[in-house]
Order: sequence, then C-alpha cells, then structure tokens
Amino acid sequence: MTPPSGQQPVVAQVAQVAQVASSGARRLAAMASRSAIFALAASASSPLRRPPGGHASTVNAYDGAMHERIRSARTEGLEPEDLAEIKALLDTAFAGRWDEHDWQHCLGGDHLLWVEGGRLVGQAAVVPRILRTGGRSWRTGYVEAVAVSPNAQGRGVGRELMLAAHEVIAAGYELGGLCAGERAARLYTRLGWRRWAGPTLVDSPQGTVATPEEDGNVYVLPPAEIDLSLPIACDWRDGDVW
Ligand SMILES: CC(C)(COP(=O)(O)OP(=O)(O)OC[C@H]1O[C@@H](n2cnc3c(N)ncnc32)[C@H](O)[C@@H]1OP(=O)(O)O)[C@@H](O)C(=O)NCCC(=O)NCCS
Repeated sequence: MTPPSGQQPVVAQVAQVAQVASSGARRLAAMASRSAIFALAASASSPLRRPPGGHASTVNAYDGAMHERIRSARTEGLEPEDLAEIKALLDTAFAGRWDEHDWQHCLGGDHLLWVEGGRLVGQAAVVPRILRTGGRSWRTGYVEAVAVSPNAQGRGVGRELMLAAHEVIAAGYELGGLCAGERAARLYTRLGWRRWAGPTLVDSPQGTVATPEEDGNVYVLPPAEIDLSLPIACDWRDGDVW
C-alpha cells in the first residue's frame, strides 16, 4: 500500500508510537496519582474505577493530553460489569433508538469513558474498520456510540470525549470516520470533521452497493489530500453498515 504523501516511513512511525505509548502511560499514571476520583476508586476491581496508569494493557498509545476525567480501555480490558454500565448508559442516552447490532458495533476497539463520582457519565468508542475511496483502502478509526447521560448533556462532555477519540485515531489509524444525524453533526464539524460530499456505498457479500439513505450523513476526520467528492465504501457488517 502506498503511504499517503507526507506520511513517515513505517519504522519511524513505529518508533514514534512506542515513544508516545510510554510518555502517554507516564502521563496517565501521573494523572491517576493526582486525581481524586482515581485515588478514591483505586481499590475497586473494575477498569472503569482503576487508576489507568496501573493497568498498561488497557492504556493505548495516546499522547497523554486527555481530560483527566476520561479513562480509556480496550473492550477486552473491560469487566462484564463495566460493559453492563456502558450498555445502560447507551440505552438511556439513545432512549430506545438503539439495538443489539449498534451495541456490537461499538465493541472491539477503544472506549473513552467519562467518570464522575465513580459513575459512568459518557462514552465514545473507536473501532477499527476499512473505508475505501480514491483507489485505496484506509485503515479507519470509526467512532461509535457517542453518548452522554441526559442530565449531563450540554456541558462539554461530548466534546472532550471526541477530542480523546481524535487522539486514538491519530495514534492508530489513517482516517477517522463516523455517521451522524444533523444535530449531533454540529458537535463533530466544530471539531474538524468534514461531511462526505460524494456517494456512499458498502462492500456487501453481494458486491459493492450504494447506500443512498446515508449520503450526507458520513463524516471523516481526513488527512489533507483526501477528495471528499469521490465515492466512499465501508466494509460490511450486520445492522446499519455506516
Ligand atoms: C450527542 C451527545 C453525545 C453530545 O454530548 P454533550 O455532552 O451534550 O455535548 P457537548 O456539550 O460537548 O456539545 C453540545 C452539542 O452536542 C450536540 N447535541 C446535544 N444534545 C444532543 C442530542 N440530544 N442529540 C444529538 N446531538 C446533541 C449538539 O451538536 C450540541 O451543540 P449545540 O448546543 O450547538 O446544538 C449527547 O447529546 C447524547 O448523548 N445524545 C444522545 C445520543 C446521540 O445522539 N449520540 C450521537 C450519535 S451520532
């Protein structure tokens, strides 16, 4: 695969990611030691309540600039009770506009979790997908299940979760992607996401087919050289493909 112009050689990228990983872990450990929430909760078994610096397997290669209330975990690092808490939050925030496929779509990547007083108040997930446009595949960090508890909405939690998602995408992917309705899209476009202008498609088991119902609802956090007017196809999955 030809790297996009301006991208560093792979060896340099690996070295940089390793450096970022260790500085990110140090920063998260420092955050844990000074955060009252983390200190109070340090003895609990759940990754939602642990000091993240003490559990490197759940900490990814971020640059450490995350808001101190945000915890990060890979799906496989979460306990069943954490997953149940995330699911309960999503049920409440999406108020029924939400099904088992949507739940499956937010598993298998990174979760950014906003915790207040030991309770989960917001989450965003970044999962790996392949988007195809401009004659190549893009390793994409796809944002799913951005949700904030209704009584905490409108005070910037969603924005901070998205900024943390940007770090995950920058550390591990070539492109960010998401699908959103008009209202939530304002949050994303203010943070630099661009509406995809070209037609959307899916690489289905029956071949590549158009998804006109999602035209105008797909957003990317793109490198400079991507052409937003071209067709873009996502990989196949059950439920909503975008
Ligand atoms: C979307 C959501 C995560 C934003 O979280 P938040 O902490 O309230 O967001 P912030 O305070 O950082 O920013 C406010 C922006 O969020 C968006 N927003 C707020 N409430 C929203 C809602 N009920 N539905 C969709 N978007 C909403 C708007 O763009 C708003 O900006 P505006 O006030 O200029 O319209 C939150 O409202 C939510 O959980 N909504 C229900 C679930 C959902 O629709 N998720 C988005 C899926 S793409």
